[in-house]
Amino acid sequence: MPTPGPPAPRTSASARAAVLSGLGTSLPPRVVTNDELAQRLDTSHDWIIERTGIARRRVAAPGTTTAALATAAGRAALASAGRSSCETVIVATTTPDRSCPATAPSVATALGLTGAAAFDVSAVCSGFVYALSVASSMIVAGLCGSVLVIGAELYSAIVDPDDRSTAIIFGDGAGAVLLERGERSAPGAVLHHDLGSDGEGRDLITVPPGERFLRMRGREVYVRAVPTMTASARRVAEAAGWRPGEIDGFVGHQANLRILQSVAKRLELPDERVIANIAEVGNTAAASIPLALASAAGQGRLARGDRLVLTAFGGGLTWGSTALLWSGARPVHQEVEPLS
Ligand code: COA
Repeated sequence: MPTPGPPAPRTSASARAAVLSGLGTSLPPRVVTNDELAQRLDTSHDWIIERTGIARRRVAAPGTTTAALATAAGRAALASAGRSSCETVIVATTTPDRSCPATAPSVATALGLTGAAAFDVSAVCSGFVYALSVASSMIVAGLCGSVLVIGAELYSAIVDPDDRSTAIIFGDGAGAVLLERGERSAPGAVLHHDLGSDGEGRDLITVPPGERFLRMRGREVYVRAVPTMTASARRVAEAAGWRPGEIDGFVGHQANLRILQSVAKRLELPDERVIANIAEVGNTAAASIPLALASAAGQGRLARGDRLVLTAFGGGLTWGSTALLWSGARPVHQEVEPLS
């Protein structure tokens, strides 16, 4: 007879919540600076840093897969939580290794989790926030007790190296969190979600049918991103019972530092409550929010119990926000390894 495990916590459905227990990241080792890009594109370090806040980004070596990045970040998140398994794996990505099947089953198997439920979420730069809401809802509904939510991107596969309007912005990387069943009052509790979309804007960030590379109408995206992110962050804060000024940390999708600063200004948040690591990694789409969280947590900028709002905006158009209490999880970083 197997030894029975500890009894499941007696949590009523209304008090039950998904609680963030682990945080992991993975970045390819190669750093590409603005000066390196300026050697082959009609741009400059000064233009890029002033217009975007980006100083450098990571670019994966040829042969690196999204699954490899996702697996390394997932393994790191499990290690951060002190766990070796989980019941469900969700990968949010714009750059799956194959259009069919999804990336998540390969990631689950590479993590030794064959048999786990595994699927991808496709919501471009909002993918992580969307996946977080699905994962948290699965836990609250009692469908499973633990979900690994991974945002993983290999934008170097879809960015036109000769297009200065996108090649300067995007980078590769992955970030992951482990959510486990717990209570709404616990540090780490995921409290509320706000999700939306507008398909009229589908051509603003797109890989046109039959083409290989991403095209972005940056200025048009920018002017929509600021009010939409502000409104979404406000809605989720209000649902959590927080006035905007009570948000301890605003973790926006790292698309452009000026967007983050404009949203924070509208939310009446001082600069020190804006979490930004865009200078180091650029825009990593669905990986951006967990990478920013890990960077802030690693620098000791987040305290256990802090009221955090995560807000994303991107292709689709899609947007979304999550309100959560910071858990105090210590981020773990893992180098990306090729999948065997
Ligand atoms: N280096 C130098 N000049 C550049 C350049 C580059 N890398 N990229 C564009 N330019 C030029 C343009 O050609 C344009 O020149 P023109 O005035 O002679 O026509 C000028 O700079 C201004 O271009 P514009 O696109 O209006 O710049 P911008 O200030 O809007 O900055 C982005 C461009 C892409 C950085 C900015 O629009 C942005 O961040 N958009 C939002 C992206 C986003 O949120 N995406 C969502 C998630 S992916």
